[in-house]
Amino acid sequence: MKIKTITADETLSLRSEVLRSGKPLSQCVFEGDKAVTTRHFGAVDEKGTIVGVVSVYLKDNPLLKQTNTYQIRAMATATNYRGKGLGKALLSAGEDYAESQDAELIWANARSTAMGFYTNSGYKQASKEFIIPEIGPHFLVTKVL
Ligand SMILES: CC(C)(COP(=O)(O)OP(=O)(O)OC[C@H]1O[C@@H](n2cnc3c(N)ncnc32)[C@H](O)[C@@H]1OP(=O)(O)O)[C@@H](O)C(=O)NCCC(=O)NCCS
Repeated sequence: MKIKTITADETLSLRSEVLRSGKPLSQCVFEGDKAVTTRHFGAVDEKGTIVGVVSVYLKDNPLLKQTNTYQIRAMATATNYRGKGLGKALLSAGEDYAESQDAELIWANARSTAMGFYTNSGYKQASKEFIIPEIGPHFLVTKVL
């Protein structure tokens, strides 16, 4: 299994399947996907299939005092590839990229169901639980780089 940089378009099918209940790919495009400061990473199996994705955006959060921060978004691993360390490796690739851009903080709106995944990688809860419409309950989480 390899972690590599992929294009925004290559993230869409896994985003749809894992994060948007199979919605059309056109509804799985996020603001900033094609920005020059954005990076997308994929976990690629031996057949070349992308089985895990994450995206990293230069984006500050009004709830945080830090600037030049990066947001982790669209973190997804294919169902049959979970629990094998791919998510953690993708997150780490995103953090390395943010660090290489001199960011001191990375953050995410973590699904409440995935909080254990983020805390396992050193993220701290930074808000009360809140609801993102049509998606569900989340917490803001942060990690100092
Ligand atoms: C959350 C998700 C990305 C984790 O991917 P994964 O490839 O299974 O994660 P890993 O195997 O790298 O797990 C890393 C560690 O986190 C733990 N972990 C993973 N998911 C967890 C969860 N939901 N709750 C608690 N702990 C979790 C693992 O047990 C593992 O622990 P270890 O290092 O002690 O063995 C994956 O379950 C997924 O795609 N879920 C659906 C979409 C989603 O919720 N995405 C996050 C949106 S914010």
